[in-house]
Amino acid sequence: MSKVEEKILEELDGEHLVSGVELADRLEVSRVAIWKHIQSLKKQGYSILAKPGKGYELVGAPRALLPYEIKRGLETEFVGGDVLYYEELDSTQSKAKDLAVEGKKEGTLVVAEAQTGGRGRRGRDWHSPRGGVYLSLILKPDMPPARSTLMSLLGGISVAESIYELFGLKPDLKWPNDVQIGGKKAGGILVNTSGEADVIDWIVIGIGLNANVDFSSFPSNLRKTATSLQRELGRRISRVNLTKRLLEKIEKNYQFFLREGGGPILEKWEALTNTLGVQVRVTNGEEVEGKAINIDKDGRLVIKLSDGGCKKIASGDVSLVDE
Ligand code: BTN
Repeated sequence: MSKVEEKILEELDGEHLVSGVELADRLEVSRVAIWKHIQSLKKQGYSILAKPGKGYELVGAPRALLPYEIKRGLETEFVGGDVLYYEELDSTQSKAKDLAVEGKKEGTLVVAEAQTGGRGRRGRDWHSPRGGVYLSLILKPDMPPARSTLMSLLGGISVAESIYELFGLKPDLKWPNDVQIGGKKAGGILVNTSGEADVIDWIVIGIGLNANVDFSSFPSNLRKTATSLQRELGRRISRVNLTKRLLEKIEKNYQFFLREGGGPILEKWEALTNTLGVQVRVTNGEEVEGKAINIDKDGRLVIKLSDGGCKKIASGDVSLVDE
């Protein structure tokens, strides 16, 4: 979207009619140019009525996660400072990692309407049809890579808080980062890190949420284990509002983490998880079964084994075992 188009949208704030002449005057371009930009905005999904003798009226914004829509009224200092938008991409995560390597600044966000090669944890695919929210955010915290699991927990907390505040649904976080509603997966978080042994160069937090996805396109195994916000609420949700709230929450939690350290983040996560105090089976090459009793300061899951010993798990797949 061009700068002139952004200014036209600011003038047509949804409450006032503004004539072509007024717009041309205010933006110092010709009336023909205004008309062309209005046609271009309509193509991008804006509903703009031209009322003869009165002016243009903005009656609807697109549902797409356009950078302008995400940034409008976004209450962050740096998260979402730059937004790169794609109708379709192989993976926002790969794109954000490339951008991080190129030195793009902290807070840069990549969003896509759909992904053709969406990545999940542990080398799995992330099914990414239109209707979902797929985003990857570059952060540059001053901390050792060993603590990157904390960033993944921070992502989960931010998702859960946003969903609760906007829709009144209370998601559970399954260690390390599954977002579940009613025992079914509604979203996931993937974290990639680069750096030396003792300090992170950059970190990319990737979040995938089944917002308004159409389940008929899902593989049958996922239809049983996954859910979407649309399915849980019985209505479509505004992905733009969800994305904005999520970015605001991530920034708040991240600043909180930088100020206070990991402790308060771990406390928040403990209040939102369904994984502690229950019998779990963890697969990460080997299989470990026991009671999940705690997470340590780096976000590793502490399991109490049947022989009384304890084991700390840094990554893996957890299933909750019914006792
Ligand atoms: C998981 O396995 O639970 C994590 C899924 C993470 C998916 C998101 S969608 C946006 C970003 N881009 C990707 O390719 N993956 C992450």
